[in-house]
Amino acid sequence: MADTPLTLLGLESSCDDTAAAVVRQGDGPADILSSVVHGQADFHAAFGGVVPEIAARAHAEKLDLCVIEALDKAGLTLRDLDGIAVTAGPGLIGGVMAGVMMAKGLALGAGLPLIGVNHLAGHALTPRLTDGLVFPYLMLLVSGGHCQFLVVRGPEDFSRLGGTIDDAPGEAFDKSARLLGLPQPGGPSVEAEAALGDPAHFAFPRPLLDRPDCNLSFSGLKTALLRARDQIVAEKGGLTRADRADLCAGFQQAVADVLAEKTRRALRIYMAEAPSVPALAVAGGVAANRAIRQALEEVADQAGVRFTAPPLRLCTDNAAMIAYAGLERFRLGRRDGMDLSARPRWPLDCSVPGLVGGGRKGAKA
Ligand code: KG4
Ligand code: ZN
Repeated sequence: MADTPLTLLGLESSCDDTAAAVVRQGDGPADILSSVVHGQADFHAAFGGVVPEIAARAHAEKLDLCVIEALDKAGLTLRDLDGIAVTAGPGLIGGVMAGVMMAKGLALGAGLPLIGVNHLAGHALTPRLTDGLVFPYLMLLVSGGHCQFLVVRGPEDFSRLGGTIDDAPGEAFDKSARLLGLPQPGGPSVEAEAALGDPAHFAFPRPLLDRPDCNLSFSGLKTALLRARDQIVAEKGGLTRADRADLCAGFQQAVADVLAEKTRRALRIYMAEAPSVPALAVAGGVAANRAIRQALEEVADQAGVRFTAPPLRLCTDNAAMIAYAGLERFRLGRRDGMDLSARPRWPLDCSVPGLVGGGRKGAKA
């Protein structure tokens, strides 16, 4: 493993969380010395989604405070660092630019190397930080902005097996919650209602299971929920608590079934490579859902594959993953110059065509 201890500061500002973290790695596993995340949910709540201009301003205002807090918590100064890692995309461009400019200023002022990091690589490499997974492993990213299967072969070597062709699953949970008058973020509120309902009461589709590939679709599920809701309202004049619970349970079960079946297919492709220590890792906010997590864990068990899911604070957007991904790139000798640009789109695997355009939380590339 690593020989010289390295300490990196990471910055993240690609969506609606402003974050800074310090990560150190010597001979053994990496240590998170500090990880500061300032969410912006309150600023965007009234708009039903992330407003890019508000996000960019909030990042610009908060980034320096996050850096100071992260260094303070780690008990370090800029002089103790070996480099500055920063999310350079994909994401909402104003926020990414705010982070990249801050990182350039810090690197230039302190005479430190600058390392641009792909936000998705940050998520995809997190299971190495938390569980020491060895390459290659299969990764399922499921959040409000991302949904894809990746075979992670190295810090810069990713193969995308498939992904959503429309909404990300978290986005579908959030929209469904809105349709049922449940609070945001929708995932946890739908999960809580679903616990009281019957998943078989309403028939929800299982989109794209008729196709053999690993692509997914969630927007039809949300439409199915809308239709079922409108039909109940037309018949009874409103929704009872039991109707709402049954709708949530049916919707959640459909998402879990589709994710489980597509994971089974992705695992088959991955296992054909005969990985030395087969592992399935799940990350993203939706991985917090117990029914979905359990369904995926069962699929991994059946395939005889290790299952890991990083703790939620490292599954959702944070800067420790950016600092860690920066460390991995740093060890490969990668450095970026002052010409590092912020990229709204930046697919991890350029060998396959993109599936969707920008979403509510930015590009899903
Ligand atoms: O990873 P994340 O914090 O942010 C990004 O999207 O990048 O994911 C947030 C998403 C939201 O859409 C939220 O509704 C969903 O994850 N989520 C859940 C649960 N907790 C959070 N979805 C389903 N079940 C949950 N328990
Ligand atoms: Zn993310």
